[in-house]
Amino acid sequence: MMLFLDSADAGLIAERATGGLVDGVTTNPSLVARAGGDFFDGLKAICEAVDGPVSAEVVATDAATMIAEGRKLRALHDNIVVKLPLTVDGLKACRALTDEGHPTNVTLCFSVAQALLAAKAGATFVSPFIGRLDDIGQDGLGLIRDIRTLYDEHGYVTYILAASIRTMAHVEGSALAGADACTLPPNIFDAMIRHDLTDKGLDAFLKDWTDAGKGAL
Ligand code: E4P
Repeated sequence: MMLFLDSADAGLIAERATGGLVDGVTTNPSLVARAGGDFFDGLKAICEAVDGPVSAEVVATDAATMIAEGRKLRALHDNIVVKLPLTVDGLKACRALTDEGHPTNVTLCFSVAQALLAAKAGATFVSPFIGRLDDIGQDGLGLIRDIRTLYDEHGYVTYILAASIRTMAHVEGSALAGADACTLPPNIFDAMIRHDLTDKGLDAFLKDWTDAGKGAL
Protein backbone atom coordinates (compact mmCIF):
# COMPACT_ATOMS: atom_id res chain seq x y z
CA MET A 1 0.00 0.00 0.00
CA MET A 2 1.31 3.44 -0.89
CA LEU A 3 1.76 5.81 2.06
CA PHE A 4 1.14 9.50 1.44
CA LEU A 5 1.51 12.44 3.82
CA ASP A 6 -1.65 14.54 4.22
CA SER A 7 -0.06 17.95 4.66
CA ALA A 8 0.80 21.15 2.82
CA ASP A 9 3.78 21.93 5.06
CA ALA A 10 6.82 21.43 2.82
CA GLY A 11 9.17 21.48 5.82
CA LEU A 12 7.31 18.74 7.70
CA ILE A 13 7.12 16.70 4.51
CA ALA A 14 10.81 17.09 3.66
CA GLU A 15 11.81 15.90 7.17
CA ARG A 16 9.88 12.66 6.65
CA ALA A 17 10.48 12.05 2.96
CA THR A 18 13.96 10.58 3.20
CA GLY A 19 14.35 6.83 3.51
CA GLY A 20 11.78 5.81 0.92
CA LEU A 21 8.80 5.43 3.27
CA VAL A 22 6.74 8.28 1.80
CA ASP A 23 5.26 7.59 -1.63
CA GLY A 24 3.44 10.88 -2.18
CA VAL A 25 1.50 13.78 -0.67
CA THR A 26 -2.09 14.99 -0.56
CA THR A 27 -3.08 18.57 0.15
CA ASN A 28 -6.43 20.33 0.36
CA PRO A 29 -7.43 24.00 0.58
CA SER A 30 -7.72 23.84 4.39
CA LEU A 31 -4.22 22.38 4.75
CA VAL A 32 -2.79 24.94 2.30
CA ALA A 33 -4.46 27.80 4.18
CA ARG A 34 -3.01 26.46 7.46
CA ALA A 35 0.50 26.14 5.98
CA GLY A 36 0.44 29.78 4.77
CA GLY A 37 2.79 31.22 2.15
CA ASP A 38 2.40 31.18 -1.62
CA PHE A 39 0.39 28.18 -2.86
CA PHE A 40 2.45 27.56 -6.00
CA ASP A 41 5.84 28.01 -4.29
CA GLY A 42 4.70 25.62 -1.55
CA LEU A 43 3.61 23.02 -4.10
CA LYS A 44 6.93 23.25 -5.93
CA ALA A 45 8.80 22.73 -2.65
CA ILE A 46 6.66 19.67 -1.87
CA CYS A 47 7.29 18.23 -5.35
CA GLU A 48 11.02 18.69 -4.83
CA ALA A 49 10.86 16.93 -1.44
CA VAL A 50 8.92 13.83 -2.53
CA ASP A 51 9.36 11.76 -5.67
CA GLY A 52 5.74 10.70 -6.12
CA PRO A 53 2.20 11.94 -6.73
CA VAL A 54 1.33 15.26 -5.08
CA SER A 55 -2.41 16.02 -5.04
CA ALA A 56 -3.29 19.70 -5.39
CA GLU A 57 -6.93 20.72 -5.27
CA VAL A 58 -8.81 23.10 -7.55
CA VAL A 59 -10.95 25.76 -5.86
CA ALA A 60 -13.37 26.55 -8.69
CA THR A 61 -16.82 24.98 -8.60
CA ASP A 62 -17.68 24.98 -12.31
CA ALA A 63 -16.19 22.41 -14.69
CA ALA A 64 -14.65 24.84 -17.18
CA THR A 65 -12.73 26.75 -14.51
CA MET A 66 -11.77 23.53 -12.73
CA ILE A 67 -10.25 22.28 -15.98
CA ALA A 68 -8.32 25.53 -16.43
CA GLU A 69 -7.08 25.38 -12.83
CA GLY A 70 -6.15 21.73 -13.28
CA ARG A 71 -4.04 22.49 -16.34
CA LYS A 72 -2.33 25.34 -14.45
CA LEU A 73 -1.53 23.04 -11.52
CA ARG A 74 -0.21 20.35 -13.86
CA ALA A 75 2.08 22.86 -15.57
CA LEU A 76 3.90 23.30 -12.24
CA HIS A 77 5.35 19.79 -12.01
CA ASP A 78 4.85 16.41 -13.64
CA ASN A 79 4.06 14.77 -10.27
CA ILE A 80 1.03 16.97 -9.60
CA VAL A 81 -2.29 15.11 -9.42
CA VAL A 82 -5.33 17.35 -9.95
CA LYS A 83 -7.68 16.97 -7.00
CA LEU A 84 -11.34 17.54 -7.78
CA PRO A 85 -14.41 17.44 -5.53
CA LEU A 86 -16.98 14.71 -6.06
CA THR A 87 -19.62 16.95 -7.65
CA VAL A 88 -21.27 16.90 -11.06
CA ASP A 89 -18.80 19.54 -12.27
CA GLY A 90 -15.88 17.83 -10.55
CA LEU A 91 -16.66 14.59 -12.39
CA LYS A 92 -17.00 16.41 -15.71
CA ALA A 93 -13.63 18.06 -15.13
CA CYS A 94 -12.19 14.68 -14.13
CA ARG A 95 -13.26 13.14 -17.44
CA ALA A 96 -11.88 16.06 -19.45
CA LEU A 97 -8.53 16.16 -17.64
CA THR A 98 -8.23 12.36 -17.77
CA ASP A 99 -8.84 12.43 -21.52
CA GLU A 100 -6.02 14.99 -21.81
CA GLY A 101 -3.73 12.57 -19.98
CA HIS A 102 -3.63 14.29 -16.58
CA PRO A 103 -3.75 12.24 -13.34
CA THR A 104 -6.69 13.06 -11.05
CA ASN A 105 -7.82 12.47 -7.48
CA VAL A 106 -11.57 12.69 -6.88
CA THR A 107 -11.98 13.73 -3.27
CA LEU A 108 -14.73 13.99 -0.64
CA CYS A 109 -16.07 10.50 -1.43
CA PHE A 110 -18.53 9.19 1.17
CA SER A 111 -20.40 6.35 -0.59
CA VAL A 112 -19.97 3.37 -2.89
CA ALA A 113 -22.21 5.09 -5.44
CA GLN A 114 -19.90 8.12 -5.52
CA ALA A 115 -16.85 5.85 -5.87
CA LEU A 116 -18.52 4.13 -8.84
CA LEU A 117 -19.02 7.51 -10.53
CA ALA A 118 -15.41 8.55 -9.85
CA ALA A 119 -14.16 5.35 -11.52
CA LYS A 120 -16.47 5.88 -14.50
CA ALA A 121 -15.13 9.44 -14.83
CA GLY A 122 -11.65 7.93 -15.18
CA ALA A 123 -10.22 9.11 -11.84
CA THR A 124 -6.67 7.95 -11.14
CA PHE A 125 -7.42 8.04 -7.38
CA VAL A 126 -10.65 8.22 -5.39
CA SER A 127 -10.43 9.50 -1.81
CA PRO A 128 -13.00 8.04 0.62
CA PHE A 129 -12.94 10.02 3.89
CA ILE A 130 -12.91 7.43 6.68
CA GLY A 131 -12.64 9.72 9.71
CA ARG A 132 -15.43 12.05 8.69
CA LEU A 133 -17.76 9.04 8.21
CA ASP A 134 -16.81 7.67 11.63
CA ASP A 135 -17.48 11.16 13.06
CA ILE A 136 -21.15 10.83 12.05
CA GLY A 137 -21.44 7.27 13.35
CA GLN A 138 -20.93 5.48 10.02
CA ASP A 139 -18.37 2.79 9.14
CA GLY A 140 -15.49 4.44 7.28
CA LEU A 141 -13.43 1.27 6.93
CA GLY A 142 -16.52 -0.58 5.74
CA LEU A 143 -16.70 1.89 2.85
CA ILE A 144 -13.11 1.05 1.85
CA ARG A 145 -13.97 -2.67 1.88
CA ASP A 146 -17.09 -2.12 -0.21
CA ILE A 147 -15.33 0.04 -2.80
CA ARG A 148 -12.58 -2.61 -3.05
CA THR A 149 -15.22 -5.24 -3.77
CA LEU A 150 -16.95 -3.02 -6.35
CA TYR A 151 -13.76 -2.15 -8.20
CA ASP A 152 -12.50 -5.75 -8.22
CA GLU A 153 -15.86 -7.18 -9.31
CA HIS A 154 -16.15 -4.74 -12.21
CA GLY A 155 -12.50 -4.27 -13.17
CA TYR A 156 -12.18 -0.57 -12.35
CA VAL A 157 -8.54 0.48 -12.11
CA THR A 158 -9.01 3.67 -10.03
CA TYR A 159 -6.75 3.55 -6.97
CA ILE A 160 -8.52 3.67 -3.60
CA LEU A 161 -6.81 6.34 -1.48
CA ALA A 162 -8.00 6.10 2.13
CA ALA A 163 -8.24 9.65 3.52
CA SER A 164 -9.34 11.50 6.64
CA ILE A 165 -7.21 9.21 8.75
CA ARG A 166 -7.42 9.80 12.50
CA THR A 167 -5.94 6.69 14.11
CA MET A 168 -3.51 3.84 13.64
CA ALA A 169 -6.51 1.52 13.40
CA HIS A 170 -7.58 3.50 10.32
CA VAL A 171 -4.18 2.91 8.69
CA GLU A 172 -4.05 -0.80 9.50
CA GLY A 173 -7.72 -1.27 8.65
CA SER A 174 -7.31 0.49 5.29
CA ALA A 175 -4.39 -1.75 4.37
CA LEU A 176 -6.32 -4.88 5.37
CA ALA A 177 -9.44 -3.68 3.54
CA GLY A 178 -7.46 -3.43 0.30
CA ALA A 179 -6.86 0.31 -0.06
CA ASP A 180 -4.16 1.02 -2.64
CA ALA A 181 -2.94 4.07 -0.74
CA CYS A 182 -3.51 5.79 2.56
CA THR A 183 -2.81 9.45 3.30
CA LEU A 184 -1.64 10.19 6.82
CA PRO A 185 -1.38 13.33 8.91
CA PRO A 186 2.32 13.64 9.90
CA ASN A 187 1.60 12.79 13.57
CA ILE A 188 0.00 9.47 12.59
CA PHE A 189 2.89 8.72 10.22
CA ASP A 190 5.34 9.35 13.09
CA ALA A 191 3.34 7.17 15.47
CA MET A 192 3.38 4.22 13.05
CA ILE A 193 6.99 3.39 13.75
CA ARG A 194 6.82 3.43 17.53
CA HIS A 195 5.90 0.59 19.86
CA ASP A 196 6.68 0.45 23.59
CA LEU A 197 7.87 -3.15 23.35
CA THR A 198 10.31 -2.19 20.57
CA ASP A 199 11.79 0.52 22.82
CA LYS A 200 11.92 -1.76 25.88
CA GLY A 201 13.37 -4.63 23.87
CA LEU A 202 16.11 -2.47 22.38
CA ASP A 203 17.01 -1.03 25.81
CA ALA A 204 17.35 -4.57 27.20
CA PHE A 205 19.47 -5.80 24.26
CA LEU A 206 21.87 -2.86 24.56
CA LYS A 207 22.10 -3.16 28.34
CA ASP A 208 22.95 -6.89 28.06
CA TRP A 209 25.56 -6.04 25.44
CA THR A 210 27.32 -3.37 27.52
CA ASP A 211 26.98 -5.42 30.75
CA ALA A 212 28.89 -8.17 28.97
CA GLY A 213 31.71 -5.66 28.39
CA LYS A 214 31.16 -5.43 24.66
CA GLY A 215 31.58 -2.21 22.66
CA ALA A 216 31.05 -0.90 19.15
CA LEU A 217 31.18 -3.39 16.27
C1 E4P B 1 -7.49 13.96 1.86
O1 E4P B 1 -7.05 14.10 0.76
C2 E4P B 1 -7.85 15.07 2.77
O2 E4P B 1 -6.87 16.07 2.63
C3 E4P B 1 -7.83 14.70 4.21
O3 E4P B 1 -7.51 13.36 4.42
C4 E4P B 1 -8.99 15.22 4.99
O4 E4P B 1 -8.87 14.79 6.32
P1 E4P B 1 -9.71 15.44 7.53
O5 E4P B 1 -11.06 14.84 7.52
O6 E4P B 1 -8.94 15.05 8.75
O7 E4P B 1 -9.72 16.92 7.28
